[in-house]
This record gives sequence, structure tokens and C-alpha cells, in this order.
Amino acid sequence: MAEADGFAGGDLEKAGLRLSVAGEVATVTLARPERRNAMTGHTWQALAHVGQMLPEAVRIVIVRGEGSTFSSGIDLNMFRPGGVAGETSLMDRVADGSADDAELDRVIADYQEGFTWLRRPDIVSVAAVRGHAIGAGFQLALSCDLRVLTDDAQLCMKEPALGLVPDLTGTKPLVDLVGPSRAMELCLTARSVSAAEARELRLAELVVEDAELDGAVDDLAAALLAVPREAASATKGLLQGASARTLQEQAAAERRTQAGRLRALAAQAAETRG
Ligand code: ACO
Repeated sequence: MAEADGFAGGDLEKAGLRLSVAGEVATVTLARPERRNAMTGHTWQALAHVGQMLPEAVRIVIVRGEGSTFSSGIDLNMFRPGGVAGETSLMDRVADGSADDAELDRVIADYQEGFTWLRRPDIVSVAAVRGHAIGAGFQLALSCDLRVLTDDAQLCMKEPALGLVPDLTGTKPLVDLVGPSRAMELCLTARSVSAAEARELRLAELVVEDAELDGAVDDLAAALLAVPREAASATKGLLQGASARTLQEQAAAERRTQAGRLRALAAQAAETRG
């Protein structure tokens, strides 16, 4: 892996990303199709940067890959001597002793920031997965709130097969979605999951034909945008906390959140009346 050094803020293209914003919808495109959208440390730093610079108006973030593959995961050159051009190899630094545990923790935490912001309550993130989502690519899809897959999509948690663990925040959503036993089976065999199985396992909200992917994602975005913004983010926050709370705690959280909503709606109505 490469060290978290020197992603030049704003230089998304160099990091293999493109960002386009149209009103309330932002689209983040993994844009190294010649490498099947393999990602490096700079890609993850750039992703974090996208999260930080997102205009306030944005409510939906679509994550997609250019070409036939969502993402082939980590750039395998990061494991080879010399690493990736322009990025210091973390493997080399571990080998020569210059990266201790604290430094590894810092660098990986920095990479993880590229993934965690996709859960923010003020946005809904949608992964549009065509073809393969492998390793870090699968974890990126898992970091999104919703996943739309083409019928030829294949998901694979490849890290254990390479002697690693999945460390880009994918293990929690995987366990939450499929349960610990299935998550273990998928990770410890590093096998590929077809789109049909992904739907069965609740890893995909929707599976569509290749030609329908963009339209299906646009329709989903339109449906999500039809719900008022504040209600959507308050509801997302409630749902996100549900599994960690007892029934009583969740009921209390519902009451608190609803009180806030009622107050906001009443204030809005008073303002409209003049
Ligand atoms: N890192 C670097 N280069 C890659 C990667 C990658 N992860 N994946 C593909 N490439 C390169 C290939 O080397 C090839 O380069 P070349 O044109 O110079 O020969 C080019 O991208 C096209 O790759 P193909 O294998 O020819 O593309 P194909 O469409 O047949 O297969 C697939 C796509 C299935 C994604 C395949 O490339 C693959 O299995 N890649 C490796 C996946 C992997 O093991 N990723 C690591 C996961 S673990 C983690 O992410 C932490």
C-alpha cells in the first residue's frame, strides 16, 4: 500500500476521479478505465476531499465507474516494489521500518475517510455497479447507502486471498447486510457473488440490464429527491442508529426526532401564513 502523502487537493483527475454536480445530484466517477478503475492512496484521499468540498445543495451522491468495471480494487502496483508513481509505498515503509503502528494507523484512517463520508445523513449515496467490484471496489459499493447492479455484476472481497483484511470500512456494512456467518464465508473464500445472489443477500437494492443502469439510477435519484430534504436526513439518521439501540432507545429517538420535525413544520407553516 502507498503512504498518504501529497494528494494535491483539487487534482481529482490525477487521482483517478471525476466529479460532476448538477443541482442536488453529484456524480463521482472512478476514471481509470484502462486499469479497470483500480484505486491508490491518492484516490482515497481525493474521495475524502470530494466529501469535504461537496456543495451544500447536494442531496444525492452517485458513485460509478467508467467503462466495463466498477472497480478492480486496490492498484496492485501498490504491493510491488516501488509502488505507484508519485506515491510512497507503504509496503516499502513497513519493510524498512519507517512506518510504525501509529503511522500505519494514521495512514489507514486517512484512507478510510474517503469511504466514511458516504454515510452522512445529509446525503444519500448510491453505488452504480457495472461489472466487477473487487476488494476496495466492493468496500466502496458497501460504503454507499444503496446499490444498483447490472445483471453481470460480480462482487468479491479479495483482501484475505492476498493476505490482507478488508480495512476500508466495508466489514461493518457487510455484516449488517448479510449477517456474520455469510460475511465470513464470502470473505474467507474470497469468492465472487453474482448480481442475482447479491440481490438475494440484500447486497443490491436493484439489478438491471447493462443498458438500463444509468436510467435506473436516475429514476432512483428522482424518487429520493421527491421526499423533503430535512425529513429524509432525519429519517436516515434514525435508521442508521436503529441497530445499535434497544427498542426503548429507538422509540425515544423517534420521539425526539419527530418533535424537531413538528417544530420545523409548524415554523414553516407560520412563515407561509405570513
Ligand atoms: N491494479 C492494477 N492494474 C490492474 C488492476 C488492479 N487492481 N486490475 C486490472 N488492472 C490492469 C491489468 O493489469 C491490465 O493492464 P494491461 O492492459 O497493462 O495488461 C488492465 O488493467 C486490464 O485488465 P484485464 O485483467 O485485462 O481486464 P479484464 O476486464 O479482463 O478483467 C478484472 C477485469 C476482473 C477486474 C481483472 O483485471 C482483475 O481481476 N484485476 C485484479 C483484481 C484484484 O485482485 N484487485 C485487488 C483486490 S484487493 C483490494 O482491493 C485491497
